[in-house]
Amino acid sequence: MTEYSGLPEDQPSGVIVVSQSGHLTGEVTVPGAKNSVLKLMAAALLADGVYELSNVPRIDDVDIMSELLTHLGLRIEKIAVPESGEDGQKLRIVNSGNVITVAPFEIADRIRASVNVVGPLLGRFGEVDIALPGGDDFGGRPIDIHLRGLEAMGATFTFTDEGLIGRTTGLQGADITLNFPSVGATENLLMAAVCATGTTRIVNAAREPEIGDLCLMLRSMGAHIEGIGTQQLVIHGVAQASLQSTTHTVVADRVQAATYMSAVAMCGGDVHIKGAVSGHMEMLISRFTDMGMTIAPTTDGVQVYRDGRLSAVDISTLPYPGIATDYKPLLVTMLAVSDGTAVVTENLYPGRFRYIEELRKFGADITIDGHHAVVRGVERLTGAVVHAPDIRAGAALVVAGLAASGMTEIRDIHHIDRGYDDLVGRLARLGASISRVD
Ligand code: UD1
Repeated sequence: MTEYSGLPEDQPSGVIVVSQSGHLTGEVTVPGAKNSVLKLMAAALLADGVYELSNVPRIDDVDIMSELLTHLGLRIEKIAVPESGEDGQKLRIVNSGNVITVAPFEIADRIRASVNVVGPLLGRFGEVDIALPGGDDFGGRPIDIHLRGLEAMGATFTFTDEGLIGRTTGLQGADITLNFPSVGATENLLMAAVCATGTTRIVNAAREPEIGDLCLMLRSMGAHIEGIGTQQLVIHGVAQASLQSTTHTVVADRVQAATYMSAVAMCGGDVHIKGAVSGHMEMLISRFTDMGMTIAPTTDGVQVYRDGRLSAVDISTLPYPGIATDYKPLLVTMLAVSDGTAVVTENLYPGRFRYIEELRKFGADITIDGHHAVVRGVERLTGAVVHAPDIRAGAALVVAGLAASGMTEIRDIHHIDRGYDDLVGRLARLGASISRVD
């Protein structure tokens, strides 16, 4: 058992070196989802007791969230950490009721999910002081939808030089229509509503599988939630004292699953992606199939096969069940070597094209026009020295390197470590020529 004692002061430095790789074969196991586990950890603020989360990915964002929650008064221990292999770790979270409501600026600033302590802290304690959340830089990432919803429930907010102060004398259930199905806002309002007085209706709620996962954990803690998986969530507030701690298994990471699918797309091959939930990736699988891949659900994952050149298809990102913006760097990378020209439209984060410059270093032919990218497939990419600008784009550059002639070096890999659990080891075990030099 390892008690959580914070991250090292300096980010681990290093590079990933990739050479052109032949067909990938074998099996890879997908770990639990980053975008779920961080919110599940925040939910432990709502009730005292001992929580156990399984299938927790070994990623830096879990460590940063652990550091944040430790400062807020929870105790977090890594238990049953497998020595090696691809099984997720277990996290024990102990909430003994000594929670403080002031989140240190320098930690909250490092990840977007830090904003998800606002809902539970306001809901249970009526107060929160926190920095504005950090995370990947896709241009502006406002939190107005979170705040408007919480205000409708009776919270008031003041902006300070350091961040945000929220107060309430008790949250009341409310009818809240989101003007966009924001993932983070839906999660915050859900957690705030669990022990609010009366019923909260969230209309135009986000429907991502990670939100369903949070609903299931909250339900096992004693929350009354209807409409799980739909655009309308109804939460009947319960007394805080009736909530209890729980055990929960984190849903599989669909973006990591997509990463291994795209690696097979780039190299060719035949790989079983254990743990991937095809029902959470239907639109993406349909696009991959249009591009020429063969993807079939199995009893415990999906089998992915590709031989021959990919075909170009147009792609637009949308909230779930649409194509997730987090898949887009992988898709653009695949399109860079596909037969034909495709238009990729980004509908969530207009600024989320920073990695295109890096892909061009491989010889990719991509032009940007507003929130559209025009990708003209080339026969072959050429190895390059590139910088990971964020988590998903970093992984896409690794995947590009697998299909590029010669050698590729990816720098700034601390971004990749924030969201990927042993990407290098997993790809190497499938036969990729890849190593990490720390
Ligand atoms: C989460 C994911 C991120 C993913 C994104 C969209 C986590 C930690 N991150 O981010 O990986 O890319 O969902 O699937 O789970 N918006 C507002 N006001 C708000 C909130 C959001 O205008 O108050 C806008 C955003 O700028 C963006 C869109 O809504 O254009 C989607 O944001 P949101 O769904 O909230 O994403 P996050 O929860 O931040």
